[in-house]
Amino acid sequence: MKQIVIVGGSHGVGKALLHRLLSDGNYGVINISRGEVPAHERLEHHVCDVMQGFPQLNIQSCDGLVYCPGSINLKPFHRLSLSDFQDDLNLNYLGAVRAIQALIGPLKRSKNASVVLFSTVAATQGMPFHSSIAGAKAAVEGLTRSLAAEYAANNIRFNCLAPSVTDTPLAEKLLSDDKRREASARRHPLNRFGQPDDLASMAEFLLSDKANWITGQVFGIDGGLSTLKLI
Ligand SMILES: NC(=O)c1ccc[n+]([C@@H]2O[C@H](COP(=O)([O-])OP(=O)(O)OC[C@H]3O[C@@H](n4cnc5c(N)ncnc54)[C@H](OP(=O)(O)O)[C@@H]3O)[C@@H](O)[C@H]2O)c1
Repeated sequence: MKQIVIVGGSHGVGKALLHRLLSDGNYGVINISRGEVPAHERLEHHVCDVMQGFPQLNIQSCDGLVYCPGSINLKPFHRLSLSDFQDDLNLNYLGAVRAIQALIGPLKRSKNASVVLFSTVAATQGMPFHSSIAGAKAAVEGLTRSLAAEYAANNIRFNCLAPSVTDTPLAEKLLSDDKRREASARRHPLNRFGQPDDLASMAEFLLSDKANWITGQVFGIDGGLSTLKLI
């Protein structure tokens, strides 16, 4: 049985992934979040705010780590304070660094470990009001490639998902009424915004042995937004 650590399995994409892994039957999951998750025989849950520290986990070996916490703090550049930038960097980038550092020993002891991080479509495609989150997520993409190279010899794979707008609590404000939801759907070549499972299915694949030869990649999971122009 593979042992996977999810940071942020209580909501959104992490929650969808948690359900997928537990219903598969071949995974034991350790979830870390501030909120609760329903009990399950193959689930260990730690209530923890990873901005305050990382819990001590009693595991020898870890086959996968998925770091989900992220932010959407969209403001004109002149209204973003330095501490806005620092907060985004702390949660999106340094939080991931902290989680990986806490688990690098157990990840090394796995025969075939996989780490999945999250960026955003706005890290590589310029979008107004995204300067803070774009910088923090670009740092996550750099971390992904750098650690993929550094730990290739240990057979630890590092990959990153770069979503566009996805219907989770994080994107609540962007999808708060029918007008916003329709406008958001229309911006995407596939004519819809994302659902948590669109991302969770890719994370599940990257954790599995089916993705054994994939590392150092950033995958746009975005309904075609980052690469297609229909008119
Ligand atoms: N949704 C989108 O439109 C979108 C777009 C682009 C990129 N992304 C990226 O995709 C990733 C997943 O997003 P999502 O929409 O699923 O986010 P979400 O709905 O906010 O869920 C994030 C999860 O992380 C946990 N979390 C947040 N802060 C935490 C902390 N300090 N300590 C411990 N756990 C914490 C939350 O649980 P608790 O609140 O219980 O702690 C929750 O389970 C993020 O990195 C996000 O930046 C999302």
